[in-house]
Amino acid sequence: MSLPDHPVPSAAQAVRGEIVDFTGDPATAGAGACRHFADGMLLIAGGRVVAAGDAAALLPGLAPGTPVVDYRGKLIMPGFVDVHVHYSQTDIIASYGEQLLDWLERFTFPAERSFADPAHAAEVAAFFLDELLKNGTTTAAVFATVHPASVDAFFAAAKARNLRMAAGKVLMDRNCPEFLRDTAESGYEQSAELIRRWHGTGRLSYAVTPRFAPTSTERQLELAGRLLDEHPGVLLQSHVAENKGEIAWVAELYPWARSYLDVYDRFGMLRPGAIFGHCIHLDDADRRRMAEAGAAMAFCATSNLYLGSGLFDLHAAVASGVGVGIGTDLGGGTALSMLRTLSESYKVTQLRGHSLAPLHGFYLATLGGATVLGMADRIGNFAPGKEADFVVLDPAATPLRARRNAQAASLEERLFLLMMLGDDRSVHATHIMGERVYHRP
Ligand code: GUN
Ligand code: ZN
Repeated sequence: MSLPDHPVPSAAQAVRGEIVDFTGDPATAGAGACRHFADGMLLIAGGRVVAAGDAAALLPGLAPGTPVVDYRGKLIMPGFVDVHVHYSQTDIIASYGEQLLDWLERFTFPAERSFADPAHAAEVAAFFLDELLKNGTTTAAVFATVHPASVDAFFAAAKARNLRMAAGKVLMDRNCPEFLRDTAESGYEQSAELIRRWHGTGRLSYAVTPRFAPTSTERQLELAGRLLDEHPGVLLQSHVAENKGEIAWVAELYPWARSYLDVYDRFGMLRPGAIFGHCIHLDDADRRRMAEAGAAMAFCATSNLYLGSGLFDLHAAVASGVGVGIGTDLGGGTALSMLRTLSESYKVTQLRGHSLAPLHGFYLATLGGATVLGMADRIGNFAPGKEADFVVLDPAATPLRARRNAQAASLEERLFLLMMLGDDRSVHATHIMGERVYHRP
């Protein structure tokens, strides 16, 4: 059982069920980094975790009349953290037939154009966030569009739901349609203004968001690095080494660079709090450099398969010591469900000749994601004082799952079934700062 060593504030509420969280990465720290209370209890006060432990130990200390939500038969886990997703691509999920560069031209850029309209941005942001909660995702690093209004709309919707979210305005000053183009200077000014308006407001964090090297001039990347220097604590998100055609294009545009990653390195963008989507076609020197700089990778399995981009090498990433999180990458990705994304991550890892153990998978989807976003002091597990964002998972959401789950002997086996078979139907409830904001009908 884990109890804080300072005096325990009395819990305002408690939830009871099977509790699983992580205190470290089981892939490196071993299975002991997974905490498991088969009949567990989570005590919450002021939206924060007071304690997590065995129900039998915690029940007697509850003040009379403390409400206890009974989730026995379900699994209670920290909310999922999606480290790479585009809310502005909600309406182009599953658009047929292209690989990255053609997909961007044909589907993505036209869809992103509509976000010049604040009413459209607000409507999509509300829908997108409700879908995240339905999928048990409580924190995400989110790409808006080039329009500052798209960031305002997203943050306003996240604030209204009291969510811990990161987002940023896309920077794009070349090689894109005129209607989505900023300039190095306007992108810098607008990002600085959005940082002042939103970063640290409520539970919100700003992420400087150069789309990818081909759509920024060197001047724009330089100013992106300057924004990071001028605003400590803001994040950075971008894409790297996703698609072979993209990589050849970067080599033409930046002939001086040793590798695609090296472009970002040159402009000071590799640092803690920098998350790069895809990272498929990197070499060992790139991976070492990312680990050394403290930058992190988003493993976007459904997107990488769907766009035919390639197979992320999770094993090499872990061996290099670089931080990794799981990204759904909607709308290149084909699901907002982190469970479905874990399932595809497992298959990609299999094709790479390894497997993805369930404890490692659920670590990546919770504390691992929180760590790469620099938020592990606030979210990611049930340590005392953390914000009580959590998901309640139903391992028996369909007759087949119930049947298969009944035959699973160990926690690992049951987690693996959730990870391979789960989807939004597996999410029984989602809580934000202790409060239930979604309950499956
Ligand atoms: N590279 C540059 N922009 C994008 C995007 O919107 N999605 C994906 N998957 N890759 C990108
Ligand atoms: Zn992306």
